[in-house]
Amino acid sequence: MFNLNKITRKNIRNLKPYSSARDEFKGNAKIFLDANENAFGSLGGDDYNRYPDPLQLKLKKKIAKIKKVGAEQIFLGNGSDEVIDLLLRAFCNPGIDNVILMPPTYGMYKVAADTNDISSIEVPLNGDFDIDLENVLDVINEYTKLIFICSPNNPSGNRMNKVSIIRLLEYFHGIVIVDEAYIDYSDEKSLIDLLGTYANLVVIQTFSKARGMASLRVGIAFTNEKIINILNKIKPPYNINGLSQDKILEVLKRKTHFNDMVELVKDQRYKLSVELEKLSFTERVYPSQANFVLAKFTDAKKIYDYLAQ
Ligand SMILES: Cc1ncc(COP(=O)(O)O)c(C=O)c1O
Repeated sequence: MFNLNKITRKNIRNLKPYSSARDEFKGNAKIFLDANENAFGSLGGDDYNRYPDPLQLKLKKKIAKIKKVGAEQIFLGNGSDEVIDLLLRAFCNPGIDNVILMPPTYGMYKVAADTNDISSIEVPLNGDFDIDLENVLDVINEYTKLIFICSPNNPSGNRMNKVSIIRLLEYFHGIVIVDEAYIDYSDEKSLIDLLGTYANLVVIQTFSKARGMASLRVGIAFTNEKIINILNKIKPPYNINGLSQDKILEVLKRKTHFNDMVELVKDQRYKLSVELEKLSFTERVYPSQANFVLAKFTDAKKIYDYLAQ
């Protein structure tokens, strides 16, 4: 049985989080003296002299409406990269615990694990770039805390088998993280719908890809309130800056523009695949559910060097 308390690191369970008077104050006020800000204003104009909302409540409410989840099911990170790092730090004891990765996949899972001195057990994807379920089930041990699944996968572009993911959610006593950074380009639905069924599921998405806001650094974790409370305990208090919160709120109103951009990328993806197929040195172009295409060439190094030039 999945037991969140049991898999949370002891020092994190016992951690008394940083708190400021503003967390405790719930009204409207014109004067704030608790955070040693510049009370006379800001060189940047607006309200930039004030620290931003640490829990980004307005933004979460807006995202909740769009994604049809509760605002309390949302955690925001300084890019999904921060979410990945916080999950490792919350649940994996350095030098003791491990995580499962399925290469070829997004490189930051391993870098973040290595940085935290957490070992990665690598179970390569099968020949179709899908989860090698039997081998993953085989390598899980008592120190395995997290399984990272990237779907659509970077760099192969395909979605991972949902039945295999469900099997892992049911069998594994740790947390299954499904990184859906490229979900908006996919024909299949997000796994957010499974959140009510599985307490050990974390779905990651980001504003960096289809919504085109990589520079603002905002990633999202959708999960249950208990896991979110742990992430909130250990995140830097003001991890999403005020400019990013304001800008994303503004941009989320432009729904048509977003849909148009997604369709444009999907159209280009198709054209690129068709043109790549025609080249004499292309061995295979793989179907993609993302904003990139994986292709196999007769001499990959030559093509890489040519393109790099
Ligand atoms: C699968 C995947 N997850 C996460 C990220 C990072 O996203 P963010 O910009 O939100 O940190 C990337 C970026 O390339 C990615 O490919």
